[in-house]
Amino acid sequence: MIRTSQSQRFFRLALFSALFSLLLVMLSSWGRVSEAGLGCPDWPGCYGKLFAPQTARDLNEARSFFPRQAPEEEKMLKETLHRYFSGALGLLIIRLVWLGWKLKKHVRRQQVLIPGLVFVLVFAQVVLGIVTVKLQHKPLITMLHLSAGMTTLALLWWIVLREQRFWRPVSAALPATLRRLRPRALFGLLLVIVQYALGGWLSANYAAMACPDFPTCQGSYWPAMDFMNGFVLWRDIGVDYEGVLLNLDAATGVHMVHRLFSVATLLYVGWLALHTIRLGARDNLCRYGLLVLVLLLAEMTLGIITVLMHLPVVVVVAHSALAAVLMLGLITLNHAVRPRP
Ligand code: HEM
Repeated sequence: MIRTSQSQRFFRLALFSALFSLLLVMLSSWGRVSEAGLGCPDWPGCYGKLFAPQTARDLNEARSFFPRQAPEEEKMLKETLHRYFSGALGLLIIRLVWLGWKLKKHVRRQQVLIPGLVFVLVFAQVVLGIVTVKLQHKPLITMLHLSAGMTTLALLWWIVLREQRFWRPVSAALPATLRRLRPRALFGLLLVIVQYALGGWLSANYAAMACPDFPTCQGSYWPAMDFMNGFVLWRDIGVDYEGVLLNLDAATGVHMVHRLFSVATLLYVGWLALHTIRLGARDNLCRYGLLVLVLLLAEMTLGIITVLMHLPVVVVVAHSALAAVLMLGLITLNHAVRPRP
């Protein structure tokens, strides 16, 4: 009985941590789009304070410590909020690992490996966060940070899926069908991960406004593009972190790759979702296909609105959050068709 309640607590904590991690993805996106990533030029404090400087005296002190970067209240607030939320997620994960170890004594199949991995990842993210601040937001470091956040969310969701008892597994009545679906679902997940990373690269390089129109870009279906320059992984950032990062052709290349790859993602993942729905007529796979299809169409629509409305913060953050949820949808599908022990 005690064990059951502890298992339930483990499940609830994993679910809460996954939702919290999604919130953090949104906060990061909000910070990136409002260029608040370097709202605080130091770490762990913000202009030497535990929380963003508020009073006129603190702000004057901050100016004298960092004469090259004037403190901006809104950016400082966003950055410190992000830091405190990351710290809270770290504490949640520590508790999850501890609960898992405690349960392992009684439940042989209790998960401890993946929670342990998440623990390592979260602390790797702290280090990456510090490096990001020290290296003035190099796009590659920002990307690594984004990827680590995405992996943390994905692993937490995997823990939730393995613990949950609400969504019954698909019946094993169609083993051959499921066997064929497995590599296809995995490929769909990989495509979404690559598309997510391309979106992150576009955002980290501030290349969104290179194509302010849709479906054309700068009035053309094939504008001048410099892919080689757009995908240099280690480059210097402008004089300050808001400086121009890429020339127009390179930024256009980065933007167009994200758009073109989204077409490939739409075609393949759309087909996968419809295929799963068709198979689901004979099994309870249907809902997974439907979930992926709805998320995919909503994500594409938000991407297009982002461009047409010239990057309103709310839409960009929603686009980022939905990209994460789409990834979770594909993980859910992969979980449903995986081989059962
Ligand atoms: C499956 C489809 C798609 C996925 C998974 C996806 C994913 C992403 C992700 C993760 C970001 C980074 C957001 C951030 O840093 O917070 C992003 C940025 C962006 N995406 Fe997409 N995207 C998709 C389709 C599209 C489409 C169809 C368009 C437009 C035609 C588009 C336009 C943009 C733009 C303009 C940004 C940059 C936002 C900014 O930096 O302010 N996306 N995308």
